[in-house]
Amino acid sequence: MDRVHVSTHPLVLHKLALLRSEQTEPKKFRELVREIAQLLFYEATQDLSLAPMTVQTPLGPADGQEVAERVGIMPILRAGLGMSEAVVEILPTVHVWHLGLYRDHETLQPVTYYNKLPAQPDIDLSIIVDPMLATGGSAVAAVDILKDWGAKRIKFLGLIAAPEGVRTLTEAHPDVDIYLAAIDSHLNARGYIVPGLGDAGDRQFGTG
Ligand code: PRP
Ligand code: URA
Repeated sequence: MDRVHVSTHPLVLHKLALLRSEQTEPKKFRELVREIAQLLFYEATQDLSLAPMTVQTPLGPADGQEVAERVGIMPILRAGLGMSEAVVEILPTVHVWHLGLYRDHETLQPVTYYNKLPAQPDIDLSIIVDPMLATGGSAVAAVDILKDWGAKRIKFLGLIAAPEGVRTLTEAHPDVDIYLAAIDSHLNARGYIVPGLGDAGDRQFGTG
């Protein structure tokens, strides 16, 4: 479990409680998804390599550092979209490759319907973003797709997980670092995280 990182940052925990509330309407919900995603992305990128560079200030040259790795973000459609937009705001050089997966409501198995990865892997670090890690089926399928594509270093960034999803993902892909705001109690009979926040896609896009 040393690859599972659950944030203890006070701002993450404060915003997560607001996000969970059934009183939080879609506009506020999207804002909170964006803010928490940025805080978690900050935690997930502590190990990014830097390269030295020189920057010219109005008073002369200064030693600086720049991110030396090519980072790719893979939002799982559709609920991952809000998180990927948040990441692009703070690291505008990221490549964004959309993965369309939905969970079949009967079987809870992931179904792939869209894959925008280029033919050759052209990034050093791949970060899958999806707010909910429930059974783990979608996350495992996304990592499978990235590994088949040739991705070497993969992280998963989510907001809330069920213990079942964490276990499934770590057992299938023990080399993937997982960053979360919370691990909740359990999944209900319909595969929803309890207490969770409900359906992350519906709550972002007002389709509940
Ligand atoms: C949700 C969520 C994950 C998936 C998690 O998406 O955003 O992608 O379920 O469940 P799992 O861990 O059991 O696979 P959903 O299938 O509801 O699609 P949507 O984002 O289009 O609403
Ligand atoms: N997807 C969601 O959006 N919420 C859950 O609780 C589980 C899967």
